[in-house]
Amino acid sequence: MAIDHHHHNTPVHGVSSLRVLPDEGGTRNWDKIIVDESVKSRLLSHALLALAHEKEFYALPGALQRLVILSGPPGTGKTTLATGLAEIVAQELADKGDTCLAEVNPHALPSEMLGESQRNVARLLDNSLPELSLRYRHVVVVIDEVESFAVRRSAASFEANPIDVHRASDAVLEGMDRLMKRCPNVLMVATTNFPNAIDEAFTSRADMVLSLSIPDVETASKIIGMSLEELAGIWSEIGRLARDEALHLRLAESCAGWDGRQLRRLPLKALCETKELALNPDKLRAENLFRATTT
Ligand SMILES: Nc1ncnc2c1ncn2[C@@H]1O[C@H](COP(=O)(O)OP(=O)(O)O)[C@@H](O)[C@H]1O
Ligand SMILES: [Mg+2]
Repeated sequence: MAIDHHHHNTPVHGVSSLRVLPDEGGTRNWDKIIVDESVKSRLLSHALLALAHEKEFYALPGALQRLVILSGPPGTGKTTLATGLAEIVAQELADKGDTCLAEVNPHALPSEMLGESQRNVARLLDNSLPELSLRYRHVVVVIDEVESFAVRRSAASFEANPIDVHRASDAVLEGMDRLMKRCPNVLMVATTNFPNAIDEAFTSRADMVLSLSIPDVETASKIIGMSLEELAGIWSEIGRLARDEALHLRLAESCAGWDGRQLRRLPLKALCETKELALNPDKLRAENLFRATTT
């Protein structure tokens, strides 16, 4: 199948989005998440270790699982960082070949019936992903909110028959093992909002579990600054606010406990204070931002 667009909808079963990287977006998602440098460095190093030495690890079965889990509360940047990892890996390994980013959203798999979703997962892991691994030099699979199919067996308590839940997560685990054995150029990154609900059999397969948390004040102030800077690229009068680091810090102090998503949206929230401001964002002032932290 000829791939002529870098970002397109494909009929690949169970995959909600495919990107061939590097592309014109560069490392946009990777860059926009502000976290402790050690988190990014460990994540990237693991991915490079796995993907740059696939032959060596193929000779050492079981040494590397090629699964990383990003866990943490909603809005802490897990999905963005997981897709960003594919962007930076693609850039680092560009001389060896392309990297395909496949995003799998378990919610997109029809799951009215678990028997049905079991078949879907099996098709995804046994057919779709192995096909991608033949077509592309490197494949990064992001399984977003993996808890929706790797439910901890002992805690499975939703309306479904618990036996079906066991079967569904067994199918995922066995399928992943087969995929890992067959396709040494595939790296999986799973994200989860509920680390406690994830099956131990799943976490024990991961080489690394990284926890993201609610940003501290320093980080929060950088996120606010970055968000203002983005708007300043469109409405230049906002530039003054975007350059005022002391302001970002004071704003961050009054946003204690906010997640990355909320912090990022603070300036937009401030712009919605009045009709006049919405129509003319250049008129944004510090007091609008402060009011948005308390409403
Ligand atoms: N640490 C962070 N630094 C910068 N932006 C962040 C951070 N955490 C979250 N965001 C922003 O919040 C939004 C939601 O992030 P997302 O990756 O979907 O979080 P999650 O998957 O953890 O729910 C994105 O626009 C992202 O850029
Ligand atoms: Mg997410």
